[in-house]
Parts: sequence; C-alpha cells; structure tokens
Amino acid sequence: MAKWWKEAVVYQIYPRSFCDTNGDGIGDIPGIISKLDYLKALGIDVIWLSPIYASPNVDGGYDISDYRAIAPEYGLMEDFEQLLHEAHMRKIRIIMDLVVNHTSDQHEWFIQSKSDRENPKRDWYIWRDSFEGREPNRMESVFSGSAWAFEPLSGQYYLHLFANEQPDLNWENPEVRSAVFDTMRWWLDKGIDGFRMDVINLISKPTEALSVDGGMGGNCVNGPKVCEYLREMHREVLSKYDIMTVGETPGVSPFNAIQYSSLDSGPLNMVFQFEHMDIDAGPYGKWTTNKYTLPELKRVLSKWQTELEGQAWNSLFWGNHDQPRVVSRFGDTSSVEFWNKSAKMLATCLMMMKGTPYIFQGDELGMTNLDIHELSEVRDVETLNAYRDLVESKHIYSHNEMMECIRKAGRDNARSPMQWDAGMNAGFTLGVPWLHVNGNYDSVNAEMQINDPSSVFCYYQKLIQLRKQVPVIISGRYELLLPDDDRLFAYKRTEDDNVLLVICNFSNCCFKNNEIFNLLPRQAELLISNYDDRTDSIRPYETLVYIGK
Ligand code: GLC
Ligand code: CA
Repeated sequence: MAKWWKEAVVYQIYPRSFCDTNGDGIGDIPGIISKLDYLKALGIDVIWLSPIYASPNVDGGYDISDYRAIAPEYGLMEDFEQLLHEAHMRKIRIIMDLVVNHTSDQHEWFIQSKSDRENPKRDWYIWRDSFEGREPNRMESVFSGSAWAFEPLSGQYYLHLFANEQPDLNWENPEVRSAVFDTMRWWLDKGIDGFRMDVINLISKPTEALSVDGGMGGNCVNGPKVCEYLREMHREVLSKYDIMTVGETPGVSPFNAIQYSSLDSGPLNMVFQFEHMDIDAGPYGKWTTNKYTLPELKRVLSKWQTELEGQAWNSLFWGNHDQPRVVSRFGDTSSVEFWNKSAKMLATCLMMMKGTPYIFQGDELGMTNLDIHELSEVRDVETLNAYRDLVESKHIYSHNEMMECIRKAGRDNARSPMQWDAGMNAGFTLGVPWLHVNGNYDSVNAEMQINDPSSVFCYYQKLIQLRKQVPVIISGRYELLLPDDDRLFAYKRTEDDNVLLVICNFSNCCFKNNEIFNLLPRQAELLISNYDDRTDSIRPYETLVYIGK
C-alpha cells in the first residue's frame, strides 16, 4: 500500500483550546469544523485530534471514562461524524488519540474492577496487596508521588503511572486486549484515518515494577511484551486498514524505535521519541531552568536522522500539548524582529529534515509561552502535583524558583487558547476561557497573519508547499555539517545527484563569509529564506535552503 503518511504534514489540535462556538469557554467540535478552511489554506494533510472522548478531565481528556462517547462539552457523535465528513471533503485526514495504557477511574471497567475482588473485571487493572502496611513498592508516578493508590472498597492498591484518577489497564489479560482492539475497529469503521497512541510503550510492566516487596519498583518503559502486544494489535486490527499510526514512546532508543516501527515489518508506522525534548532536563526532570546547548541539540536530532535511515521513519516535532512553545524554548522572543525570524528558522530546520512533521496548533502563528503570573492561573495536573511535591513536601524549590520552572516548562504554556484575532479573548470564545488567553494576542494572531506575506503563517505555508514539490525533502539522506559550531545548525540532504543544503542560525549574531558557504552545492539555487535579500553574511536567526547538484 502507498505510504501516504511519509509525504503528509500533520497538524495537532488540542480541542479544548482551539475554537469555542457556544460561549462556555471550552473549544468544541463545531469550532474545529469552522476552522477547516483555515487548515486547508495552511496546507496540512492530517489532523491529529487530542482526546475528545467522555472524560472527567483530570488530565486534559487523557483520562477517558467511555472510549465510544464524545465528551458533551465537545459536542455530539453527529458533530464528530460531520467533522470527519467535512475534513475528508477537503482531503484532510483525521487521526485520533488512543489512550489505552490507562482509563479514567470513572470508566465503567474500573468502577466494576474496584467493587470487589471477585468481580469479573478485577483483573482488568493491576491490584496488589500492601507491603508492611504501605504501598507494595516505592515506584513513583510520572505525575509525582507514589504510583500506587489504596482502594478501601476492596482493600488493595492499584497501579497508576499517571494521576491517581488514571488506573493502568492490565494488558496481560487477553480480555483487555480484545476490548481495546474492538474499540479501535469501531472507530476505524467510522472512517478515521489512524491513531496516535498515548504512552504506548508503557503497556507491559516488568515483574520488578509490580512486586510486593517495598523495593524500588521498576522502569515501565519498553517493557518485556510491548512488541508482542503491538504485533498482535497489528495482526488483529491495523493491518486491515489503510491508516497511519504513530506511537508516543518516551524513553526509546533508536533500537526500540526500529523494533516498534521498522519500515518492512514494524507494527507501527513511526514513533515520537523525546530525546531532543530532554536535553535541558535537570535533577528534577523538566522542572529546572537549565539551558540547552546547540551542539547537543544537533547531536541528538542527527543521531535519530542517521540511525533510522533505511530502517524506520522519523516523526519530526518541536512541541506538543505537553511541551513549552517552540519559539520560546529554542528561538528568541526578545524583539518582534527576532521572534518572527527565529520562528521561521525553527520551522525550516525541522521541516527540511527526513520524516513526517507535526505542527502543534498555534506554532504556525509563532505563539509563545503563556504569561503565567500566579500559581492560581495554572490548570495542569502535572504542574500542580509537581509544585506540591517539590515546594511543599520536599522543599527543593522556593515558590519563586518553582514559578520560574513552570513558566519555562509547564504544560499550560502550549495549552492556552488559539489566537484567532485581536478581538475579545483573541476570538477564541465569547465566554470566559477555561485557561487564560496569552496577553500578546493583539500582536500575535491568525487574522493579522493570513494575508501578510512576511508573516510566520505564510512562511509555514511555503514550507509545506515545498515538501510537496521537492522530492529530496521527503527521501534524501541526511548529513550533519559543522557538528561543533554552537551557532549554526547546518545539514545536507542528498538523493541521486540532488543536494539540499539547509542553514539555520540559532543565534542573534551576524557573521561574514562563513565557512558554510564553501559547502554550497553546484548550481545552487535558493529555495527559501526568512530574509528578503541576500548578503555575504549570515544574519540573526537567518535561514537559507539551497538546492543544487
Ligand atoms: C501522554 C500525553 C499526556 C498525558 C499522559 C498520560 O504523555 O501526551 O498529555 O498526560 O500521556 O495520558
Ligand atoms: Ca464550547
């Protein structure tokens, strides 16, 4: 079957923050439908829809209480069907989030499971006895605190790798697997075009993780049976449809990625790896004010480009609903000029690489990190738990230090409402938005950018078009140039005798006669740049893409 997903550009929608049509302050499906023409104008091919299922919304919809129902605040099933139809009419495909490492604690399966030890659904989740009156072991949740929660009704602990309200499913149980596969078929038969699979490499827990011995627990990424379960899923479901699949897989190596998504026999089409998202992590993970270095960023991204070459397909992303905004993180928001140039440079750097690019909503406008003034504005469960843990229980950070970390890395940064225009609430809602709108919406918004050729939006449009016109961008081999340079990120793509040279200045410096110009291909022609003219210098955040022989 043709691999259309290799040539596709994906756009991620976080529905809660996209567009509200009924004034309740929450984005909804009719809002997405109303913006399909905007997405078509941008040129994207696929929408990845973050969860729209029924959910108590403890974790932004990643806690699902009914896999086959639409959350009432997002609309009705008919609205979803209309969205799918309208998207398909515009030749836009839709992939859905599949969140099956865990459910919500309000899911009917869990309500039954916890009710008593003899319930037929008991073994659908992971239950253990206490150890010496405490948790079975000391394993920690990704969202701080113990990964075990006590359930008084039946007197045992259940495992939750994320929030307390997100109990982990027991994938060892074949009934669980077949219930998940049924649900997947149900959505695919409605006509959706694939899945983004939430933390899918966490579904198989190693023995140490579950042992009742008061020990450290174990690492649940890439557990012993992940491949087996994914192969079964492929055999039972995925292989029967022309779809695209991408696994969210924290903590993968290229070796794991190739196992999950090898070009010839992998059960998935590609995975999201996070190594480049972790290069500024500190002793408390993302909660730090550490800065990344460019040579390290280049090393990591280049490693994935070269190690997957000919083996597996890369997914390319600078951010998503769990990460800060790309231009605030890797670019420069200190002036309007630098903001505009660096947003375009970053987009070029990513979209000229080999793989399928994913644009997170608002990045095509250069949206920046949210202006978070006080803790009371924060909505994200991960951030609030981390604050409690690092400030209140462990006294590792002062309030002000933690606020600085939150402004840098908190998940609300990317979740603030889309900035459609300069009107009330940036045109996102006529009501009170569930999370406040970034104060810069009067200067950063879609309406201002759509018809302005110098805008970040129009530049994204051009980049997306180039991917459709220039085959070497899709299939050329990648080679990093000047690996130790701490200001320039430059690389080559080659296929047969076609050469693409990509030059990105990650700094605010200007340099004359740089050595990179000695590496220009023969008959070099400038494909795209973020400055209108050419000089013999490379200017702040300048990017240049040449094609030649
Ligand atoms: C994934 C999601 C994140 C969520 C977590 C638990 O990492 O992207 O938003 O909190 O899984 O479902
Ligand atoms: Ca709404």
